[in-house]
Amino acid sequence: MKAVQHKPVMLDEVLSAFSDVELKVFFDGTVGAGGHAKAILEAHPEIELYIACDKDPAALAIASETLEPFKKKVKFVHSDHVNVQEVLRDLSVNEVDGFFLI
Ligand SMILES: C[S@@+](CC[C@H](N)C(=O)[O-])C[C@H]1O[C@@H](n2cnc3c(N)ncnc32)[C@H](O)[C@@H]1O
Repeated sequence: MKAVQHKPVMLDEVLSAFSDVELKVFFDGTVGAGGHAKAILEAHPEIELYIACDKDPAALAIASETLEPFKKKVKFVHSDHVNVQEVLRDLSVNEVDGFFLI
């Protein structure tokens, strides 16, 4: 995987799904290269915590470059998203305003 060079799949649909939602906390279970994450963070400046999860450390390294401008808001997590409950518990997060796995 390389840094974001093309439009992530279904990006318009993803942004549209959250267009009317106030997002304070977001869980992204497949952050990959960070293309969706970057677009969501740009569209939702109200986000306080963006949990960027991926099971591949190489993907997380790329995402950290893509999301460098948002690093104060992003928490990178190396895990399978099946562990979402444990991930949220470890971050003391009780609820999220949005999540996706694409
Ligand atoms: C198609 S890419 C994601 C694209 C990403 N949303 C973007 O904007 O670049 C798929 C990613 O999901 C991750 N992935 C697949 N299954 C996973 C799982 N069960 N838990 C965590 N990450 C997973 C892969 O490691 C890969 O980085």
